Amino acid sequence: MSAESTAKGMSSPLRPPPPILCPMNRNPQATPGVPNPLRTLSLDRLRCRTSMKWRTYPSDVLPLWVAEMDVSLAEPVVRAVTEALALGDTGYPAGTAYAEALAGFARKRWGWDGLAVERTAIVPDVMLGIVEMLKLVTGHEDPVVVNPPVYPPFFQFVEHMDRRIVEAPLGADHRIDFGALETAFRQAVAGGRKAAYLLCSPHNPTGTVHTADELTAVAALAGRYGVRVVADEIHAPLTAPGVDFVPYLSVPGAGSGLSLMSASKAWNLAGLKAALALAGPEAAADLARLPEEVSHGPSHVGAIAHTAALRDGTPWLDALLDGLDDNRRLLADLLARHLPAITYRPGEATYLAWLDCRALGLGDDPADVFLQRGRVALNSGLPFGTGGAGHVRLNLATSPEVIEEGVRRMAAALR
Ligand SMILES: Cc1ncc(COP(=O)(O)O)c(C=O)c1O
Repeated sequence: MSAESTAKGMSSPLRPPPPILCPMNRNPQATPGVPNPLRTLSLDRLRCRTSMKWRTYPSDVLPLWVAEMDVSLAEPVVRAVTEALALGDTGYPAGTAYAEALAGFARKRWGWDGLAVERTAIVPDVMLGIVEMLKLVTGHEDPVVVNPPVYPPFFQFVEHMDRRIVEAPLGADHRIDFGALETAFRQAVAGGRKAAYLLCSPHNPTGTVHTADELTAVAALAGRYGVRVVADEIHAPLTAPGVDFVPYLSVPGAGSGLSLMSASKAWNLAGLKAALALAGPEAAADLARLPEEVSHGPSHVGAIAHTAALRDGTPWLDALLDGLDDNRRLLADLLARHLPAITYRPGEATYLAWLDCRALGLGDDPADVFLQRGRVALNSGLPFGTGGAGHVRLNLATSPEVIEEGVRRMAAALR
């Protein structure tokens, strides 16, 4: 997202970094038959990419920021897209194949049988889907509750569409603080306003996976205050091995909720635009009011790619999740050895690491120091809202060698 770009101070004097060696493919593979997708591309190959992650900063900067993964794509996705291109199947999207593939994935992966294809709508991407859902359930200048620190575009898109943000910060344990949430709900609906709660599940940047009990409590509280829940579940497939994701719409009392899901984060398909909006039974009438023109935005080839990922991309996903879990442990180990003043609590989902750097004494924006002095690009915590100052977000979806180099650069920035 351009909203994440904080390409500050790029004119600073360069200290040429030592060359980074990328001896890929030498680790054992945890998932039989599928290579770890994080180890298949060398840094030289990655630097040929033209996307935001690779083109925002000069080539001496190691990019560990925006949520793109350094993976080669799942073979079923490549095959489906290649066949579509060979056939010239590049028109407008039609049908419900994407929703059916998601329903099948949800059944197998999360044991959730309640994804009703007739209560889904295709939208261009998750953020534009959120905007459309908020338009359905709130009006001009109505409040939208969020849990900072949270994905910066939550603030930007909501404010751009003339709604107001009300913050209910996460607790120090990175979990929903129900006292703060209730205060925010009470404030939001004061004066009879319509209000929405934009829930990030799993949570970006902390990787918190909300439990069934927490989500049930959210539904109850939202019901009590008449607040409409819109759940951004884009990171849902990215839970660590052994961790269960609970779809918001599957919990008791969540029937008036709306959710956004997409294969784009988990299979690295952000450039192939498509996502799905899902409605609980009592939100079906709201979703039915979605203007038809919204379905003009998603890409047909994007929907083909997402469908293939959800239908046939599970072995690749499992290999990725094993690799990400190794990377979480590697990062924790490297930080403990080289930057022990940084606090890192590995999350249970996403490929993002939220690092508390306040004890380093680098001020509110340590990402700027790491960029200027270490030539490593991390996300500044500041745009994540309350709780973001003094923090950085590091993208773990890369090879272990690149993570090692990233930590080496961060440590060098402090010398
Ligand atoms: C929580 C969350 N929502 C939405 C998005 C963006 O999704 P999309 O590109 O489908 O709008 C991201 C991207 O990182 C994200 O982390």
